[in-house]
Amino acid sequence: MSEKTNETGATPVLRHVAFIMDGNGRWAKKRGLPREHGHAFGVKAFRAIVDHCGRLGLEAATFYAFSTENWKRPPREVNAIMKLMDTYLGECEKKLDQYEFRICFLGDKSAFDDKRRGRMERLEALTRDRTRILNIALNYGGRSELVTACNRLLAAGKKNVTEAELNAALYTAASPDPDLIIRTGGDLRISNFLLWQAAYAELYFTDVLWPDFGPAELDAAIAEYYTRKRRFGGV
Ligand code: FPP
Repeated sequence: MSEKTNETGATPVLRHVAFIMDGNGRWAKKRGLPREHGHAFGVKAFRAIVDHCGRLGLEAATFYAFSTENWKRPPREVNAIMKLMDTYLGECEKKLDQYEFRICFLGDKSAFDDKRRGRMERLEALTRDRTRILNIALNYGGRSELVTACNRLLAAGKKNVTEAELNAALYTAASPDPDLIIRTGGDLRISNFLLWQAAYAELYFTDVLWPDFGPAELDAAIAEYYTRKRRFGGV
């Protein structure tokens, strides 16, 4: 089915779900644990949701793991998140055949040391031929993505650009636009996430904290998505 099907008001197709994984810190606080523990349990939830996205047959899934603003957090917390990321990347490398997704990192990799950046680039290269996409947004900000894309196009000598050209210069060039963006943790904002790509996305907010967000919660979000009428500006 194509996106056109949606414009007729028929059941919307679901190709790409994106997640703002919020609430790890509060989840830990509620249990008297340091915030870092919330992130560790957040990774557990992340793994279960990635697996579920695989079972659901989605073309793409995107996870907001670390924003350009998250560097402002205490060093101990930033280090803990990076360590969790390194463990996950190491595992992906070791068990490459068990992961069905093409892995893409959204964000500015230049902030990372050679080892971490090398690993990210290797994973992207090794999975490049796969069709379904797992986007991990790391050191990502929507505004910075747009500025980076503009500068790429200017450097390529462009004086005028089309929407398609700008789209192709974004970190998400390989993915369709998100159909559904889910934010856990109760806040009602998109926090600099996929600003361009979210133009026609359906938004779903839940009070569930990310470590408690499991396959059943994703199924509920998707069930609600299927009740929405997507008009893409039409009637
Ligand atoms: C938001 O919760 C969460 C983050 C800023 C980090 C999310 C990171 C992970 C789940 C780990 C990702 C790792 C991999 C391997 C993908 P918060 O800390 O802002 O929670 P709060 O709003 O309750 O304080």
